[in-house]
Amino acid sequence: WLLPLFVLALGYLLGSIPFGLVLTRLTGAGDLRQIGSGNIGATNVLRTGRKGLAAATLLLDLLKGAVAVLIGAALIEGGGPMAGAMAFIGHCYPAWLRFAGGKGVATMMGVVTALHWPAGCIFAAVWLGALFGTKWSSVGGMAAAVSAPIALWFMGSDLVPVTLALTLILLWRHRANIARLMQGTEPKIGAAKE
Ligand code: G3P
Repeated sequence: WLLPLFVLALGYLLGSIPFGLVLTRLTGAGDLRQIGSGNIGATNVLRTGRKGLAAATLLLDLLKGAVAVLIGAALIEGGGPMAGAMAFIGHCYPAWLRFAGGKGVATMMGVVTALHWPAGCIFAAVWLGALFGTKWSSVGGMAAAVSAPIALWFMGSDLVPVTLALTLILLWRHRANIARLMQGTEPKIGAAKE
């Protein structure tokens, strides 16, 4: 029982590293909590005007999810989904930030890709399509997250339940974005800073 517990804890620890906050603080790019949506993800890092930093946040938040899956899978059977789900939860609810973390898009992309690369490709394609189609980052992320369990279901994967759980958490984390979208006040990416 010790090894499964270790896999869960390691996944959570990896996921809970808030790369957006760390990078913006290290580089003096500003306080993410006071900017835009106040979120710690790449979208909000972009609102500091630092495109490279936003890309690095996206990549690192994605990689921590993928790395968690790979380590979990290497340690125990079924460890990939376990560690991946915990990394996602760690990103969204990090103990270090009083459980107020990110919204999970990049980390979910990393987790899904490492668990099932075809579903990861679909996730990325839907994300890019919806993001550049609507210019709303939140819509891109939510559309991609919804596509994942559906794609996995069509491919007959047994990863549907765990992925669906992540999708539901991701949608819950976007509830303020959903409210803004319905009110017509959700900012588009590349728009003038709020
Ligand atoms: O991944 C977060 C993105 O979907 C929305 O971010 O900062 O616009 O709330 P934000």
